[in-house]
Amino acid sequence: MPQIIDGRAVAAYVKNKAKSEVEGLFKNDMPVCLVVILVGNDPASCVYVANKRKDCDELGIKSVEYALPESTTMEELLALIEKLNQDKEVNGILCQLPLPKHLDETKVLETISPLKDVDAFHPENVGKIMTGKYEFLPCTPAGIMEMLKYYNISAEGKSCVVIGRSNIVGKPMAMLMLHSNATVTICHSRTENLAEVCANADILISAVGKADFVTADMVKDGAVVIDVGMNRNKEGKLCGDVDYENVSAKASMITPVPGGVGPMTRAMLMCNTVTAAKKQYGI
Ligand code: GUN
Repeated sequence: MPQIIDGRAVAAYVKNKAKSEVEGLFKNDMPVCLVVILVGNDPASCVYVANKRKDCDELGIKSVEYALPESTTMEELLALIEKLNQDKEVNGILCQLPLPKHLDETKVLETISPLKDVDAFHPENVGKIMTGKYEFLPCTPAGIMEMLKYYNISAEGKSCVVIGRSNIVGKPMAMLMLHSNATVTICHSRTENLAEVCANADILISAVGKADFVTADMVKDGAVVIDVGMNRNKEGKLCGDVDYENVSAKASMITPVPGGVGPMTRAMLMCNTVTAAKKQYGI
């Protein structure tokens, strides 16, 4: 059986460190504040936003939520972001995605100040990830890097395959693995011989969003398997992209769902918020 990469344990470790930093800042009259903007009432987004509030409460970070109606206009949303950009008491700003269809997501993300961009979605922060000189990383790839570090998994010279090319996970993930000196391949819906390419990976990272997408034949013996997926199976149970039972017979290490990448994504948002606050306080 493979070693389970325990995302909850690593998240607790990371959050503990962040909590100490928040306490230290607070004692020196430097409170930390995260603003989350939610437009509309997408049920999954409501859950994610509630979880962010819980995490902030746990760490002593002030959290402010703007729950805006579905009918919110671009002008209204941009005006709010501009106001928050100027507000010295706000350290981090996150606009929950997806936005309702009539809103221009790109423009919204570009309007959030790069200094308060705790998602690292602003083009300035995206560009910095390319060069390796970044302040913020998107939370999911950052969380995966933390897990690899915690378990002493070196990517040096290894073959890494990332399945999925999203701006939020796949692309930045590939770049971070490249910075760690892995030989990186990004696979996507048009990739030919997907199983064969994946079966060559020492580290396989799946961010597809389909239950049972990664089957045992796609996994090399002894591979490290990281499952970013968050899906429901036929029985309605939460599951990742990986056929966990069969892939477990081949992998040396694997992240479960739930309890793998998910808790790390949440924890890294807290870390990014602390980083933003420290930058703004000149620390
Ligand atoms: N919706 C799903 N994941 C994310 C995320 O990481 N950040 C934001 N802003 N919205 C999301």
